[in-house]
Amino acid sequence: MKRRIGIYGSTGSIGTQALEVIANHQDLFEVTVLAANNNSNLLIQQAMVCKPDSVVIRDPDHYDKVFNALDTLDIKVFTGSESLCQLMEMDLFDMVLIAMVGFEGLKPTMSAVSAGKAVALANKEVLVVAGEIVTDLAKVKKVPFIPVDSEHSAIFQCLSGEVSKPEKVYLTSSGGPFRGMTRDEMLNVNVQQALKHPNWSMGRKISIDSATMMNKGFEVIEAKWLFSLTPTQIDILVHPQCIVHSMVQFRDGTLKAQLGLPDMKLPIQYALSYPYRLDANFGRVDFADMHSLTFEAPDRNAFPCIDLAYGAIEQGGNMPCILNAANEIAVSQFLCGKIRFYQIPLIIERCMVKADFDKKPEYEVLLETNKRVRSMATDFCTSIH
Ligand SMILES: NC(=O)c1ccc[n+]([C@@H]2O[C@H](COP(=O)([O-])OP(=O)(O)OC[C@H]3O[C@@H](n4cnc5c(N)ncnc54)[C@H](OP(=O)(O)O)[C@@H]3O)[C@@H](O)[C@H]2O)c1
Repeated sequence: MKRRIGIYGSTGSIGTQALEVIANHQDLFEVTVLAANNNSNLLIQQAMVCKPDSVVIRDPDHYDKVFNALDTLDIKVFTGSESLCQLMEMDLFDMVLIAMVGFEGLKPTMSAVSAGKAVALANKEVLVVAGEIVTDLAKVKKVPFIPVDSEHSAIFQCLSGEVSKPEKVYLTSSGGPFRGMTRDEMLNVNVQQALKHPNWSMGRKISIDSATMMNKGFEVIEAKWLFSLTPTQIDILVHPQCIVHSMVQFRDGTLKAQLGLPDMKLPIQYALSYPYRLDANFGRVDFADMHSLTFEAPDRNAFPCIDLAYGAIEQGGNMPCILNAANEIAVSQFLCGKIRFYQIPLIIERCMVKADFDKKPEYEVLLETNKRVRSMATDFCTSIH
């Protein structure tokens, strides 16, 4: 029996790589749902190749174009955010890959877990904003919740077969395009420089998060919820070669690490095929050809987003949601040239000080927090000059 897969965010960096993985294992996987925001051309192209049962084009302005293009292929076409959630309740797939970006991934993930669907989660913002609610629900519903982020996939693989809890985990980081630069040296960096990641080719938003190192801060929060850790059990190590994807240390001092070439197709494939491993032609690590593997502590002064993220998770409640909403706005304003790179953490910090704090937020409070902080951050971006 083929595993039926839904891909939410099929036109993005993770989504397109997932389709490559699936194309290499057509005997094992079948794509039954594809969903995108507004990239109708690519969605149509993907649907013509995969022939899924259904596609969702979230933006209603693109619905007619997608509908007309797929009219003769017996593929159902939906639009709007609600349909992303409604399809989770139907018997269309066994596992959904959540590869949408940002807070928008939260509702579909909640719907997937509520409907008892296995989730392969790439969208880290979901666990940043609502980690406790989502992971508690997944436990209640007993649904497999498999991380796709390479660091969390590494930890997940290191913990496989272990009954002992980890003493510590080390999240590795390339350091991003500005590794080694001081805060002053980053004052005038531009969008092109910030998007130029040394090792990974990723979507625009996560590329900027990598440049500020907020991405690593988010991953600390993600790791807390996925593996029931305290923030003090999670350390960040800059490892520019990106071969060690993360490490777990146990109470006897033993360290386990997962290594591989930096290729997102590896953790994507592992999540889709879990608990099995499949053949892969992604290339192999050649140790004889490698001069060194180096590790260093991140420069928390140059990259203040790391401490903002640790601060948010230590305060708990809706603070990580405030952190995420402010970051989403600040990053999008930087990408369209409205604020400077160094102003991203300033906007976030201001929102964390000013926004209403709730120690034990319900789901609806998180939705409201997200809305309010986005508006607050937009105002701050306008007035910061
Ligand atoms: N890229 C990586 O290597 C990587 C690694 C680890 C984790 N992640 C995480 O994975 C997630 C996706 O990253 P990415 O780099 O693949 O992002 P991306 O390239 O920007 O792709 C985002 C995808 O989500 C879709 N989308 C956005 N908003 C949507 C909405 N409201 N409804 C439906 N679809 C929506 C986009 O559709 P359109 O194309 O139509 O806009 C696109 O298909 C992020 O949370 C990121 O942090 C990524």
